[in-house]
Amino acid sequence: MGRRFRYGRKRSAPLSDQPTIRLAKRADVRTLALLSRKEIEQGLPWSWTPTRLKRFLNLASTNAYVAEVNGQVVGFSVASLGDARAHLVLLAVDRAFRHRGIGRELLEWQLLAAQTAGLADMSLEVRAANRTAQLFYASAGFQKVRSLPRYYCGVEDAVRFRLSPVRSSRRTLENDSPTQ
Ligand SMILES: CC(C)(COP(=O)(O)OP(=O)(O)OC[C@H]1O[C@@H](n2cnc3c(N)ncnc32)[C@H](O)[C@@H]1OP(=O)(O)O)[C@@H](O)C(=O)NCCC(=O)NCCS
Repeated sequence: MGRRFRYGRKRSAPLSDQPTIRLAKRADVRTLALLSRKEIEQGLPWSWTPTRLKRFLNLASTNAYVAEVNGQVVGFSVASLGDARAHLVLLAVDRAFRHRGIGRELLEWQLLAAQTAGLADMSLEVRAANRTAQLFYASAGFQKVRSLPRYYCGVEDAVRFRLSPVRSSRRTLENDSPTQ
């Protein structure tokens, strides 16, 4: 069983619609690559293809979660946990399932993993025009640290955000860990 969580304050939902978070599996690769293309990389060449994502998920330093509703994958997050720092590589929620706290939950699990590993900070890049994602990360305490001109495919600018020190609003792992 994955970890079940309550929706945010704004809405309640029938129990059957409750999202759960679990670790990503090999069988999720194609779904996650397609979500990346549709929700993150739209308008850019598809860089997180199934082949690349599979290779990345196989790295010991990669940590990935998926969110499911009624057995359907509706979001995911992928982070690289290095020796000293964490880098959030991908995070997306299917647009039909946004504004329910799922993105925040996927981020919180990554923050908890990085915090548990004793890492100093977590950074990420987001498209400069992606205001929603920037507000989302700012709401979690991330700060804009610099602009990166033509970061994506030499054509589109990025903004780098960082949270330092890493802190998760989750207080404990006891009886609360996602399972595979
Ligand atoms: C960014 C994204 C992951 C947010 O997912 P989500 O599940 O809708 O976010 P949540 O419901 O958990 O929102 C958490 C907080 O983020 C902020 N936020 C989220 N969407 C927002 C919006 N459209 N406008 C302003 N603030 C927003 C709010 O502060 C929100 O807290 P609140 O609900 O208490 O107001 C989602 O919009 C997405 O997948 N976007 C496309 C992919 C992407 O941009 N990924 C990030 C770059 S890799």
